[in-house]
Amino acid sequence: MSNEIQLKTTVNGIEYDLTVPARLLASDFLRDNLNLTGTHVGCEHGICGSCTIKIDGLTARSCLKFAVQLDGKKVETVESFKKKPETRNILEKFKAHHSLQCGFCTPGFLMIIDELLKSKIKFSENEIREALSGNLCRCTGYENIIKAANEILAHKEIK
Ligand code: FES
Ligand code: FES
Repeated sequence: MSNEIQLKTTVNGIEYDLTVPARLLASDFLRDNLNLTGTHVGCEHGICGSCTIKIDGLTARSCLKFAVQLDGKKVETVESFKKKPETRNILEKFKAHHSLQCGFCTPGFLMIIDELLKSKIKFSENEIREALSGNLCRCTGYENIIKAANEILAHKEIK
């Protein structure tokens, strides 16, 4: 049996059709095959959230997925943020509130906040804290991340 598998996926709007090892992790695929190194790899077992991406609009930990699980899916990584006005606003709020220091955890937090922003639910501060609690940061003490998230999500329109 072949250890190589055909993978067709769309990442940040670009279509890929590649052959990859069956056991290649999605996080390694993004970083090593596509050079999308904004997806950070910390714990590699689903704890830290630094590797969070979106698959068909929902956040997922790319270290817990195989690359072949991205087959037929639309994937977004933090690199997509620079292209869209609504995600650029998230970056600006993080900068304004000093919500990062080393930045290792930041891509994961940005992906979660973007998911909350696109949902049709209005979140309380406690719910925002809860939603972000699965992502670990070793630098900031979290308060400035929460401040930025609150400001981003306070003005969201529910359509
Ligand atoms: S590297 Fe995936 S959750 Fe930590
Ligand atoms: S800013 Fe350094 S780990 Fe969060």
